[in-house]
Amino acid sequence: MQEQAIAWRQAGEDIGFVPTMGALHAGHERLVTRARRENQRVIVSIFVNPAQFGPTEDFARYPRPFEADRARLETLGVDAIFHPPVDQIYPAAFKTRVDPGPLAEVLEGKSRPGHFAGVLTVVLKLFNLAQPKRAYFGQKDFQQVVLVRQLVRDFALPVRIVAVPTVREPDGLAISSRNVYLDSPLRAAAASIHGSLDAAARGFTMGTTDPAELEATVRHLLEGTPGVAIDYVALVEDTTLRRPDRAIAGNVLAVAVKLGSIRLIDNVVLGAERL
Ligand code: PAF
Repeated sequence: MQEQAIAWRQAGEDIGFVPTMGALHAGHERLVTRARRENQRVIVSIFVNPAQFGPTEDFARYPRPFEADRARLETLGVDAIFHPPVDQIYPAAFKTRVDPGPLAEVLEGKSRPGHFAGVLTVVLKLFNLAQPKRAYFGQKDFQQVVLVRQLVRDFALPVRIVAVPTVREPDGLAISSRNVYLDSPLRAAAASIHGSLDAAARGFTMGTTDPAELEATVRHLLEGTPGVAIDYVALVEDTTLRRPDRAIAGNVLAVAVKLGSIRLIDNVVLGAERL
């Protein structure tokens, strides 16, 4: 992969890179379409990264429909699919890990210790293999975007991180590979995740700037939905992940919930569509 990528760069071609764990859906398609529009070459990686799953998480049963993914990517016109085996990314001699620092200790990182170390470690390696000029990430994983941008800044990586707005089902549920696990009552309940964020975002537009009040709007709506258990509801600044004294446009309202054993996340950027 790396030799091919270097050859493209030496020929003056920009590479757009979309790192994925496969089980591709409309959200990934939007990333690839955007990459296709903005670069001469597009590389998509499909790698279910064991380093970012906790011991009790769904690594073993994470969906791996490789043939369907490949067919989908071919119709989108990607130049290369990088689908390495685990020991190509993590050979026995592999030892180094990226320490993501304090921003990985809140929100998702608090509930999923070690997750972002695993994400940043694989992203750094994938960037070196794919040599992208631009890399595309979904805004649904907002903290991941913040931490990847931090990685790029801290290590002076020559890549631009493009955050792409979340693709939603008609009822507002953010499209995610994990949605397939939801049975029909839980699937119906899941619509309240975006519904509650949207209600709080409207509250902000109408003049509510108290972070506690905005969070309470989300909590009340989620607590009123049978089957939904809240992990966190947090209003944070988009770069420091700290709670502001007063909400301003660009702050992010982020939630994680459990529906049965399925954990889902979503967020809304106040007063704006994107990060
Ligand atoms: O967002 C994902 O699918 C993963 O975290 C990523 C960026 C592909 C790293 O494994």
